[in-house]
Amino acid sequence: MNINDFARRKVCGEKLSMVTCYDFWSAQILDQTDVDTILVGDSLAMVMHGFPSTVHATVDMMATHIAAVRRGAPSKFIVGDMPFMQARYSQDVALEGVAQLMRAGSNAVKIEGAAGQLDLMARIVESGVPVMGHLGLTPQSVEAFGGHKVQGRAEAAAEQILADAKALEQAGCFALVLECVPQMLGRKISQALSIPTIGIGAGPFTDGQVLVLQDLLGMQADFKPKFLRHYMAGHQALTDAVNHFHNDVAEGAFPTCQEAYQ
Ligand code: KIV
Repeated sequence: MNINDFARRKVCGEKLSMVTCYDFWSAQILDQTDVDTILVGDSLAMVMHGFPSTVHATVDMMATHIAAVRRGAPSKFIVGDMPFMQARYSQDVALEGVAQLMRAGSNAVKIEGAAGQLDLMARIVESGVPVMGHLGLTPQSVEAFGGHKVQGRAEAAAEQILADAKALEQAGCFALVLECVPQMLGRKISQALSIPTIGIGAGPFTDGQVLVLQDLLGMQADFKPKFLRHYMAGHQALTDAVNHFHNDVAEGAFPTCQEAYQ
């Protein structure tokens, strides 16, 4: 998969799959899978570091995780998230951040939002760095939204997201993440753009889908928003495995002499 495949897949009507990944060992697994793209999302602040929101991610944190993922998944197309505010301080700071994420191993960067940063996004594209947009429920703005809520339900809000999507395409974005919007808006935007849309909680009509790896693996048994499908009971499977180990140790069943050096 390279940058040209995104446009080609849209033209051919072939859906794109993307999953998040934050570390070396899961990147090694993903490198062996068919998944099209890896996103080193700023959700790592929550999933890997236990922060309450993504605003705690920093460029250094992102670069460290991107580098680990690149080492584990040398063959995958990696999108690195620009963290909270990095695109807002100034163009120079933003471009420094982009350079750091690219040097760490990204093939592209993802930037949330549109208003006030279209020129910057065009500049990054002109500088030779592919940019993925992100609209709808952009988690870095969770405080402004008053929580993790579906966006674009009202007609005016839906029109604004559509207008922003067209503006991002105009600015040169190669793809667009649409997060938590009504499925009919997901369809309308996907039909209106020539770049692929990648949905999360945006219904079945987008050109691709993205999920957080730990979410699709069911690592948090009680985290099950409407849009999420658990592809395995990961939390239970890991708990069972660790308890199995513990019981074997407690009962003297692990290790056996065959599992020891002579
Ligand atoms: O950071 C992230 O994981 C994301 C996805 C939810 C799209 O931005």
